[in-house]
Amino acid sequence: MRNILVTNALPYANGPIHMGHLLGYIQADIWVRAMRAMGHEVTYVCADDAHGTAIMLRAEANGISPEAQIANVQKEHIRDFDGFGVHFDHYDSTNSAENKARSEEIYIKNREAGNIAVRPVTQLFDPEKGMFLSDRFIKGTCPKCKAEDQYGDSCEVCGTTYNATELLNPKSTLSGAAPVEKSSDHYFFKLPNFAEYLQKWTRDEGRLPVSIANKLDEWFDNGLNDWDISRDAPYFGFEIPDAPNKYFYVWVDAPIGYMSSFENYVKTKRPDLSFDDYWKKDSKNEVYHFIGKDIVYFHALFWPAMLEGANYRTPSGLFVNGFLTVNGQKMSKSRGTFIKAETYLEHLNPEYLRYYFASKLSDKVEDSDLNLDDFVQKVNSDLVGKVVNIASRCAKFINTKFDNKLSAACAEPELVQSFIDAGDSIAKAYEAREFSAAIREIMALADRANQYIDEKKPWALAKQEGQEQQVHDVCSVGINLFRQLAVYLAPVLPTLAAQVQDFLKLESFDFASAQTILVDHEIALFQPLMQRVDPKAVAAMVDASKDSLAAAAEPAKVEKKKEKKVEKKPEPKVGEAEIIGIEDFMKVDLRVAEVLDAATVEGSDKLLQLTLNVGEAEPRNVFSGIREFYQPEDLKGKLVVMVANLAPRKMRFGISNGMVLAAGNGEGFWVISPESGAKAGDKVS
Ligand code: 2FM
Ligand code: ZN
Repeated sequence: MRNILVTNALPYANGPIHMGHLLGYIQADIWVRAMRAMGHEVTYVCADDAHGTAIMLRAEANGISPEAQIANVQKEHIRDFDGFGVHFDHYDSTNSAENKARSEEIYIKNREAGNIAVRPVTQLFDPEKGMFLSDRFIKGTCPKCKAEDQYGDSCEVCGTTYNATELLNPKSTLSGAAPVEKSSDHYFFKLPNFAEYLQKWTRDEGRLPVSIANKLDEWFDNGLNDWDISRDAPYFGFEIPDAPNKYFYVWVDAPIGYMSSFENYVKTKRPDLSFDDYWKKDSKNEVYHFIGKDIVYFHALFWPAMLEGANYRTPSGLFVNGFLTVNGQKMSKSRGTFIKAETYLEHLNPEYLRYYFASKLSDKVEDSDLNLDDFVQKVNSDLVGKVVNIASRCAKFINTKFDNKLSAACAEPELVQSFIDAGDSIAKAYEAREFSAAIREIMALADRANQYIDEKKPWALAKQEGQEQQVHDVCSVGINLFRQLAVYLAPVLPTLAAQVQDFLKLESFDFASAQTILVDHEIALFQPLMQRVDPKAVAAMVDASKDSLAAAAEPAKVEKKKEKKVEKKPEPKVGEAEIIGIEDFMKVDLRVAEVLDAATVEGSDKLLQLTLNVGEAEPRNVFSGIREFYQPEDLKGKLVVMVANLAPRKMRFGISNGMVLAAGNGEGFWVISPESGAKAGDKVS
């Protein structure tokens, strides 16, 4: 038996849980349930990530204290996780006394070990609001292309990255005031002290997906930098010991929340467990963090380094999931695909989603798509059409003709045994987080069970004289096969499994309990187990998501109002654009280009990286800000129009060599394609 602690990324206490979050939570919950079903001791904890500027400002916009803000959101988060059967042993908050004490301790140990530095940093300061501004609260004119209304870190129009201090005409989005430069002391965690340690750590067996370890190598090659771990007051968080008015940056105490949530669990509910058994340096127990790929940097570098520096154990492994798209695209409020957990639960059975996600997930760091048509089709055909159908076809005979008792001997011991034997490889697939493989195996078994019943036709036998025993035998085999399937699906479908357990009157539903064949066994009256997904309910959920998000965005509107103070030059309307001469237009070299390859860009949710054939010897690399509207597959092989003589632009992700033309109206972007007949390299005029 293994002793395992599992955590999920701690959700921020300033917004609702949505489908994108649920992918990782459902994944972890399935793994926890599967590992328990295999007999391991698994503790599963989480907490709200309660600190930071965003939460402080959200509370202000809502007119409540940060404490009230995080308490309200925590209730909603717990309600939503519960609704989806994501069952934590303990759910805490990072704004706890235990987390404060643990954060201080880890900081002080690192300071004593020489891992903390202090030096002044000059930043933009909002004199009206009396606070330093992070890049996302500053907007101004791009120093490169002069596009207006650009954020403080990079330009969404030309992709250039810069320091906020380089923006022209900068304004605070909080007050509209022009920020001023101001210096203050900042505290740094000396990450380079751990370069060698981390390089080895990330390559340890089982620690990280290999694709992620490879990505981290690029970061090691570029050299690690000191990490700024302090924020000046006002800030909602923990004050740094011996540093009045300086607060830990939220990402310092957030992962420490994994420890303190576990600590509180032990204290309040499980005094038989020991904190040290899980967290002391040479602990043999295992600790796994399920996280999204966007927060790998924090978990694979800062977090193990902080722990190592404070002489604690580091996580045994990071399980990393990709992003979720809905209907092939980024979740969108206007399309109604930004679906909150709460909205889903008002319309659909949570187990449908658990099953659909399970059927998609593997141990790879890949994005998953929730295609709503496929969702309806898959749940109806697999769960209702195949699995539940077996029970409903067999149970009524056992209930009505055989006094609720299965037959005294199994008529097909080999068939049932083959289902029992499949348990090993299904368990292995779960353990390896190859859920889609587990589901494929289970559905192949379901097909065989249905085939058996179709061949034997108990409903026809029941009408014939003298076939009573046959009917009893066939239905008893069917119920046994159904029981195996339900046990294997239990980590994914805990509610269905509990109903089946009641129906079959079984004491245990663990994998080990399903090694026997049920004979002469009494069952309960069959109750319908799962309804088909009604496509109308899906449509209603999408509709409600369009509405409910307008409401959810209200606090943001308050911030927007303040933003209005910032003078903004309106976009030119059609017919209002600046007039240029033909000689200016002729300077632009427009060409037809063929998209040889298209890929998402790690670290950017706006860009796609395109490899374009423009009829030259070498293909061109172009970054295009259309990720929100196109999947890479939609573009591969397509002909597009590009500006071929744009000066190369250095972007954070590489050099962009041209620009692809697209029509846009604020709602979307549509890449411009020539009619068929044109070919790569053709001039466009
Ligand atoms: O990215 C996020 O949503 C963070 N709140 C995750 C924190 S995970 C852990 F470190 F606390
Ligand atoms: Zn620009």
